[in-house]
Amino acid sequence: MTTKLEESKGAKTATISIDGKSAEFPLVTGTEQETAINIEKLRAATNCITLDPGFGNTGSCKSAITFIDGEKGILRYRGYPIEELAAKSTFLEVAWLLIHGELPTHAELEGFTSEVRVHTMLHQDFGRFFDALPKDAHPMPVCAAAVGALATFYQQPESEQQIHDTIIRLIAKMPTMAASSYKHSIGQPFNYPLNRLDYASNFLRMMFAVPCEEYEVDPVLARALDLLLILHADHEQNCSTSTVRMVGSSMANLPASIAAGISALWGPLHGGANQQVIEMLERIEAEEGTADKFLAKAKDKNDTTRLMGFGHRVYKSYDPRAAILKKACGDVLQRMGGPSRLLEIAMRLEEVALKDDYFVSRKLYPNVDFYSGVIYKALGIPVNMFTVMFTIGRLPGWIAQWQEMRRDKDFRIARPRQVYVGSPKRMYVPLADRG
Ligand code: CMC
Repeated sequence: MTTKLEESKGAKTATISIDGKSAEFPLVTGTEQETAINIEKLRAATNCITLDPGFGNTGSCKSAITFIDGEKGILRYRGYPIEELAAKSTFLEVAWLLIHGELPTHAELEGFTSEVRVHTMLHQDFGRFFDALPKDAHPMPVCAAAVGALATFYQQPESEQQIHDTIIRLIAKMPTMAASSYKHSIGQPFNYPLNRLDYASNFLRMMFAVPCEEYEVDPVLARALDLLLILHADHEQNCSTSTVRMVGSSMANLPASIAAGISALWGPLHGGANQQVIEMLERIEAEEGTADKFLAKAKDKNDTTRLMGFGHRVYKSYDPRAAILKKACGDVLQRMGGPSRLLEIAMRLEEVALKDDYFVSRKLYPNVDFYSGVIYKALGIPVNMFTVMFTIGRLPGWIAQWQEMRRDKDFRIARPRQVYVGSPKRMYVPLADRG
């Protein structure tokens, strides 16, 4: 098989030749000049399919939401650099931007914020849902189940209005569900949301206030949380977002698709890495081990240890979100009274890894999860809630991607093919003859 790229009359094509037969395929060029071979007609023309485990070379869709240049460490939402959004925006403004494609006007943001505010409360019967789950349940499956359960409280048939209401309910209720899952796990009463507070402050209050004490939200900490949510809000076709699109492509409703995304995010190679990073740092601290000793294990092919929070499928240079978070770590820790031992260990690990040929040659740099855990820890968020925080942040991205897919006139149910490598046809052997 040979593949050749050609240009005739300005339209570029790729020619694929298999066993002397050639077929031409159009090239598709994105806004930032990234190029793809459109192989929609490949099987019809050549009787072949492509094989790309992990989809490292496969574009599943065209999308106008998020742009990443992994080589240059660029991340933009709807064209806006993440550094600008992190410095100047708020999470709800970013959520609107992702979902609607433009920054909101003053009136739009006000309308959106008040809509979200009036939907923060959970149906009273949700209490029974939490009661039915074990006290020591990990909050990620609790949140996945709670989001799925949300669809049982609001069962209207799908329409533009119903989808709009579901989007608002999801964004409004996710922090309430997350905080309730935590309160349930520690045996404290749930806090009702307090709608005069902003999004992040409301969440912190629902997490940490108790009915018998006053609770004041520290605005510096609320801003740090809002920043974390902005940085997690979308990341194009990652594992959980592809899951949301895949499930949604069967015409499953939005909560069902998001619940599947939460399950995908939970894994330690994806969102679950932030929990693993802090556990790794704490292990190094407890064992009084050095960064160097740990890195030797992470490099050893006979050891399954990985340097958690390092490496990324797309970023082959510094993850821009990690750079922003590294600076934010310093600010938050200063507010909390000084540097933490965990941050020192993380910085030492990074320093050593970035000089080590193993990590340099494989282009393994800190990713968003390397420093996020240090901030969550400083905010008092329990370790098993870290990935839930990622979930709250990623929600608008999942919603925007689900909606974009549903509105795409070329959308079809996602259904990959395979190369079958099992047994050829054989005859059934009756049980009595199998020995
Ligand atoms: N520590 C040690 N070695 C690593 C690491 C790591 N963290 N990550 C990759 N490698 C090695 C890997 O062993 C392989 O080496 P070799 O070529 O000798 O076989 C090479 O680097 C390429 O790795 P890969 O597993 O083929 O890369 P991938 O693109 O399939 O995986 C990744 C990307 C993020 C799953 C992986 O880098 C990893 O496991 N990192 C740690 C988990 C983590 O931090 N995940 C959070 C990702 S960012 C948040 C999100 O978007 O979910």
